[in-house]
Amino acid sequence: MARKLAMDDRGKLRTDAEAKLLRHPPATASSRDPTSLRHELQVHQIELEMQNQELCGAQLALEEARDRYIDLYEFAPVGYASLDENGRIKQANLTTATLLGVERSKLLGRPLAAFMLRGHADRWALRLSTLVRAGEPQTFEADFQRGDGAVLHAEVSTRLRSKDGSDSEVRVVLTDIGARRAAEEEARSLEGRLAISQRLAAMGTLVAGVAHEINNPLAGEMASQALAMHEMKEFAELLRRPGPLDREALARRADEMVEILGNAQDGAASIAHIVKDLVSFGRPDAERMPVQLFAVVESSMRWLSVSVERAATVRVENSEVPSIMGSEGQLQQVVVNLVTNAALAIPAGRPGEITIRIGPGNAGMVRLDVVDNGKGIPPETMKRIFEPYFTTRDAGKGTGLGLSICHAIVAAHRGTLTVESEVGKGSTFRVELPAVPA
Ligand SMILES: Nc1ncnc2c1ncn2[C@@H]1O[C@H](COP(=O)(O)OP(=O)(O)O)[C@@H](O)[C@H]1O
Ligand SMILES: [Mg+2]
Repeated sequence: MARKLAMDDRGKLRTDAEAKLLRHPPATASSRDPTSLRHELQVHQIELEMQNQELCGAQLALEEARDRYIDLYEFAPVGYASLDENGRIKQANLTTATLLGVERSKLLGRPLAAFMLRGHADRWALRLSTLVRAGEPQTFEADFQRGDGAVLHAEVSTRLRSKDGSDSEVRVVLTDIGARRAAEEEARSLEGRLAISQRLAAMGTLVAGVAHEINNPLAGEMASQALAMHEMKEFAELLRRPGPLDREALARRADEMVEILGNAQDGAASIAHIVKDLVSFGRPDAERMPVQLFAVVESSMRWLSVSVERAATVRVENSEVPSIMGSEGQLQQVVVNLVTNAALAIPAGRPGEITIRIGPGNAGMVRLDVVDNGKGIPPETMKRIFEPYFTTRDAGKGTGLGLSICHAIVAAHRGTLTVESEVGKGSTFRVELPAVPA
């Protein structure tokens, strides 16, 4: 800042001036009387020169400060504007004009709302009145119509500045968040793609289980059919044989065939069931409907692989709970993933126990716990288990996608997925989903 020439400074100036004159006395100083007068004058003159120098310095400093201010204010990376209480622009920096794509002179005196897209202008009116009435600073996002027709996505921060005597002033900071928005959208679409690839990977691991599931009833069905065919041929031979018919024997053969065909039918029915489940499992954005978690758990059991059954006994404890709104297929995926993980956590040689418990949760929620008595999760692992592709399993054994998919599905159902674990004792994965209001 410019330095003020205070009285102290002036006294010092005078002493300095006298000292200077003593050091370089003017050549003409000879007689005393007129000399002292002249001396006085010269001192004054030097004093004035020095004062002048100081003033020049102060002016330079002022100019520098002004330049710095202009640079800071006018070319700031954000728009600054001052509005009156009715939201009319009184002052704006150049950045504001650039952001809005309008010459600054065309901004002054106009309401800021005039540059906002319609819905945004209405909301701004509300915020402005809250700001002016209650003095509460407001920060929000708003879209502006730029002079060139493009849309400016901005974050608007406002606060009230009261001036003594006169009306208060509204200070506005405008930040262009177009790039941020674009980045967020990009991230969202990446997430979408990731979710799809996770689904594909999950479907991949499922296919093995499905093949196994279908193989058994299919093999049974084929065997029954072969047997039935064989029986049929023998039956025909018995009928063609000359001599009297042993009706009783024929009837017995026929009964056997009915039983065999019945087995074949069972096999076909269970394949049909599996296919039906598979359809709901594979539907990506399956529609939501009221579902009972117990029904979800029951149908999930069909998907559990043999290794789960080998590793542990799975118990289901059900209590009366309201339905939840959800996609049955997606929720099955959650149950299957959690139970499969639980079974894999059980060390070989120990009797594994997995309990699926359904009950009331926190206010308005329904709870599903998957409890295992497996090896537990150490804290370092715990931090990362929900990360996509995080796995502690050997290469080829785990995708690391199970829990991240569970998490995404539960979140999409507005629920929570939490975990508690004790190393050596076991883990509990807890899903809570909002109950359908009674
Ligand atoms: N019930 C559990 N007990 C112990 N560790 C578990 C349990 N569930 C998950 N984990 C740990 O979390 C990791 C990530 O699980 P997940 O996302 O399903 O991927 P993956 O099963 O393919 O490894 C597992 O590798 C395992 O270390
Ligand atoms: Mg898993």
